[in-house]
Amino acid sequence: MAYDDLRGFLSTLEKEGQLLRITEEVLPEPDLAAAANAAGRIGEGAPALWFDNVKGFTDARIALNVHGSWANHALALGLPKHTPVKEQVEEFARRWDAFPVAPERREDAPWRENTQEGDDVDLFSVLPLFRLNDGDGGFYLDKAAVVSRDPEDPGHFGKQNVGTYRLQVIGRNRLAIQPVPVHDIALHLRAAEEKGEDLPIAITLGNDPVMAIVAGMPMGYDQSEYEMAGALRGAPAPIATAPLTGFDVPWGSEVVIEGVIESRKRQIEGPFGEFTGHYSGGRRMPVVRIDRVSYRTNPVFESLYLGMPWTECDYLVGPNTCVPLLKQLRAEFPEVQAVNAMYTHGLLAVISTRKRYGGFAKAVAMRAMTTPHGLGYITTVLVVDEDVDPFDLPQVMWAMSSKVNPADDVVVLPNLSVVELAPAAQPAGLTSKMIIDATTPVHPDARGNFSTPTKDLPEAKDWAARLQRLLSEARG
Ligand SMILES: Cc1cc2nc3c(=O)[nH]c(=O)nc-3n(C[C@H](O)[C@H](O)[C@H](O)COP(=O)(O)O)c2cc1C
Repeated sequence: MAYDDLRGFLSTLEKEGQLLRITEEVLPEPDLAAAANAAGRIGEGAPALWFDNVKGFTDARIALNVHGSWANHALALGLPKHTPVKEQVEEFARRWDAFPVAPERREDAPWRENTQEGDDVDLFSVLPLFRLNDGDGGFYLDKAAVVSRDPEDPGHFGKQNVGTYRLQVIGRNRLAIQPVPVHDIALHLRAAEEKGEDLPIAITLGNDPVMAIVAGMPMGYDQSEYEMAGALRGAPAPIATAPLTGFDVPWGSEVVIEGVIESRKRQIEGPFGEFTGHYSGGRRMPVVRIDRVSYRTNPVFESLYLGMPWTECDYLVGPNTCVPLLKQLRAEFPEVQAVNAMYTHGLLAVISTRKRYGGFAKAVAMRAMTTPHGLGYITTVLVVDEDVDPFDLPQVMWAMSSKVNPADDVVVLPNLSVVELAPAAQPAGLTSKMIIDATTPVHPDARGNFSTPTKDLPEAKDWAARLQRLLSEARG
């Protein structure tokens, strides 16, 4: 099932019991964010949250925690809601192979219903803005898909980027944006600023659930997020032409904001409670001037609570980080079996691999650190044997405790790049990175005294099924 817009997905969530409407009046702060924060604390199967009775707002429609459970993530991919997470990742990887699927251009985008332009632009009249964490420096748009083009090659469809970058509302027509240097929009901005030019952008809010997943996905620079969305949806992604910039934007967005990142201007942005479970602090960031806003009548404002994991962000960027890493590694090392980069947006990655020869696992780990995602995020790579499931943490811990001889199996590489947000970096943006090789040494690596490994007995699988059957009979 492919959803063309957020509303279609919300109605499926409701039918599946995965959307909760809160009808009593709530305060914009702290209730909205506290409820979304709480959704991450009530265990598996948490629903999306819908608020339309918010004190001080008329006609507010707010959706939170839309991807905020494995059930919702499965439904976003059109899978049954009880699909186990490992199967979701495997299915994601299978669909990846259909890339690229050309998008379908459509007319009559619903966001053409209303427009504000020039001096009439007033975001406060369009969006019911509220703060997320109590130390945040202001209101944020933190689940937008931002579209920009390569100023050196604006006609290249694949180099047109769609990415999620947080935006602080600093005026009725002004935003501050945080482009992490390793990300594509930062490359676009650098190219524009070198020429002293503004960078046009289109900011799309309230998108179909697969668009939100691909916008936060570490793909190659010239790979199109729309063509990836088509592969993941199993149907071409519907796109439309944004009226001011002419950019390709999702057909089904609730709101499309167009304007420019103003060349060589910076302004204090933040603090903002981040995915690392820490505030980012206030830093000088580029600023956006909004020239046009297009929006559906009574737009749904979609937002996402961020803070100490797990939050919606962890579900949203779990599989979409694991699968690109798996595919990018396998392109050079077909021995790689699986990648778990679920924790804190992949600051730690667990990789299982067969070994070609001694030292191979460390080479795989170093490659992971130089993938698009690894450059800015991965600080620790834990490599395990091919028969260890990276998603089964007790197995991973077994490998750590039985296979690692720290003197040679732990490698620390100094002064590598990482997002400034990584709290342990020193200075911000630079960190040492660690490889933990928890694989069994192979020739010519003769270290250790590893004897023949014990494997589950061939009959254990049948016995597990038998025990479960007997147990359920005994328990009635
Ligand atoms: C909710 C959310 C917020 C994000 N905020 C930012 C941000 O403020 N700045 C940034 O550079 N990346 C941010 N990211 C990460 C990027 O969207 C992600 O790494 C993406 O792969 C970047 O793609 P790109 O390299 O094609 O630009 C965020 C991701 C999510 C899911």
